[in-house]
Amino acid sequence: MKVKINLTYILTHLSKHHFIVFHFLYSLYAYLNVYFITMAIQGLHFLFVFIFTSLGILHTVSSYNRPLPRKDIIYLAEDLNSTSPQQVHISVYGEDEMRISWITNNSAPATVDYGTSPGVYTNSTNGSTSSYNYGSYQSGEIYDVVIGPLQPNTIYYYRCSSNSDREFNFKTPPAQLPINFAVSGDLGQTDWTNSTLNHISNSNYDMLILPGDLSYADTEQDRWDSFGHLVEPLASQRPWMVTQGNHEIESTSYHPEPFTAYNARWRMPFEDSNSTSNLYYSFDVAGVHVVMLGSYTDFDSNSDQYIWLQADLGIVDRSKTPWIVVLLHAPWYNSNKAHQGEYQSVDMKASMEGLLYQARVDVVFAGHVHAYERFTRVYNDTADNCGLVYITIGDGGNREGLATKYIYPQPEISLFREASFGHGQFEVMNATHALWTWHRNEDDESVVADSTWLMSHSSDPDC
Ligand SMILES: *[C@@H]1O[C@H](CO)[C@@H](O)[C@H](O)[C@H]1NC(C)=O
Ligand SMILES: *[C@@H]1O[C@H](CO)[C@@H](O)[C@H](O)[C@H]1NC(C)=O
Ligand SMILES: *[C@@H]1O[C@H](CO)[C@@H](O)[C@H](O)[C@H]1NC(C)=O
Ligand SMILES: *[C@@H]1O[C@H](CO)[C@@H](O)[C@H](O)[C@H]1NC(C)=O
Ligand SMILES: *[C@@H]1O[C@H](CO)[C@@H](O)[C@H](O)[C@H]1NC(C)=O
Ligand SMILES: *[C@@H]1O[C@H](CO)[C@@H](O)[C@H](O)[C@H]1NC(C)=O
Ligand SMILES: *[C@@H]1O[C@H](CO)[C@@H](O)[C@H](O)[C@H]1NC(C)=O
Ligand SMILES: *[C@@H]1O[C@H](CO)[C@@H](O)[C@H](O)[C@H]1NC(C)=O
Ligand SMILES: [Fe+2]
Repeated sequence: MKVKINLTYILTHLSKHHFIVFHFLYSLYAYLNVYFITMAIQGLHFLFVFIFTSLGILHTVSSYNRPLPRKDIIYLAEDLNSTSPQQVHISVYGEDEMRISWITNNSAPATVDYGTSPGVYTNSTNGSTSSYNYGSYQSGEIYDVVIGPLQPNTIYYYRCSSNSDREFNFKTPPAQLPINFAVSGDLGQTDWTNSTLNHISNSNYDMLILPGDLSYADTEQDRWDSFGHLVEPLASQRPWMVTQGNHEIESTSYHPEPFTAYNARWRMPFEDSNSTSNLYYSFDVAGVHVVMLGSYTDFDSNSDQYIWLQADLGIVDRSKTPWIVVLLHAPWYNSNKAHQGEYQSVDMKASMEGLLYQARVDVVFAGHVHAYERFTRVYNDTADNCGLVYITIGDGGNREGLATKYIYPQPEISLFREASFGHGQFEVMNATHALWTWHRNEDDESVVADSTWLMSHSSDPDC
């Protein structure tokens, strides 16, 4: 039998006084553990755990050591030829359409053939293509085809560029609640990423929403291709709705224009919400109004984004979408030591928090900090029943590793925090209830480490 100590849990739950005592005892324990690897020390191990547990100082949980980051997987699908569709991903467009995006090395038809049975493509739509240059890199042909109208909650089979070698399928989201969102930020493309993606794939999710930092290509453009290959099995089956993070900027001396690869490869339905930029937009799905904000574009009160947001929130019909969810990259609330005081967090919060509060937004998902944290409902740094629940879900598995250092004492408004890879699931059951679960990626297993029920503001007469 093995009992290990969840250090982060302890550290986040101890007062300063306890902390010093604990730190001494734990150091002694660790010291002994190193020097006496014998049966006797096993006994002592249990004795220590027993003493700590009975003192109520220590909370023993199932074994888990915070893991190290893993290197990028550079994954290229080798069985493809130069006109094979690759890196297929889909995103919702309007109420009942779907955008299909893919890439080929050499030009092929910009056509999606689709239908509701495998191999039977009753409908066909043409779209457009584009490509981009970045330094000496020349992208493949990038395809953009919007298909529909489609039936809700229905599986469609499709092929791209009329290529019969690869048939894909997707399920459209439901028209009404319930809906299950998978949420993961700062994804990257390591073995941890793949492991988190496997957990998401095994969940019964309808749509993935991602608060920024996708590929960690960091100007190496073929890493965008490799990321596209890695996520294709999921992103070709369910809509992936994303917003940008700092890793999407990729502005350099030799390529000053920001977001070139991101905008070309991950085009989102911004026109449909009257936005003029792929960096912020909104859409309705089932009973949820989802707003994707841009932390790395202008957000002050004169900015296009601010004016757009004000208009967008102004016309939300709560009888149609009782829930409002916002995603952005740099968190406005954060008690991790990482990324404190950044302009995109502090100034964007100062500019836009009032708008979100007045609109009674329910939840804000952020990334950037490579850890998980959940706050109570807050407004202006204070607990407030009509405020917003802020959740940082900032590490799907990227190569930079976890943000393990926290500010002490834990602020009262912060209810749960831990550094781990993982993803979340936001299951909106009906107009009043939603279940949030945090799935820690623990040694490649998905473990629910935090969960809570949320009530919508629209169901609370006091808000
Ligand atoms: C690629 O494969 C497809 C399907 O097998 C085939 O129709 C096409 O001719 C091939 N293209 C090239 C350039 O080899
Ligand atoms: C596509 O182009 C890239 C870069 O030139 C090359 O490495 C890759 O082998 C090509 N793939 C196919 C399937 O032609
Ligand atoms: C799509 O484009 C192809 C080639 O230009 C054309 O033959 C076909 O009729 C078009 N299909 C539709 C549905 O417009
Ligand atoms: C698919 O084709 C059928 C028959 O032509 C048509 O009735 C239907 O509206 C089409 N659906 C879409 C989504 O274009
Ligand atoms: C990702 O995980 C799946 C399932 O374990 C595995 O089959 C696949 O090879 C992995 N992908 C990569 C690129 O390692
Ligand atoms: C977009 O703008 C048009 C014209 O001002 C307006 O009628 C429509 O409601 C707006 N739609 C959205 C989703 O904001
Ligand atoms: C936020 O709280 C501070 C003091 O805690 C107060 O001075 C300020 O006016 C508040 N701002 C808003 C917009 O309510
Ligand atoms: C909404 O869902 C919750 C949780 O499943 C359930 O307890 C509640 O009765 C539901 N409300 C309605 C109106 O169906
Ligand atoms: Fe980031």
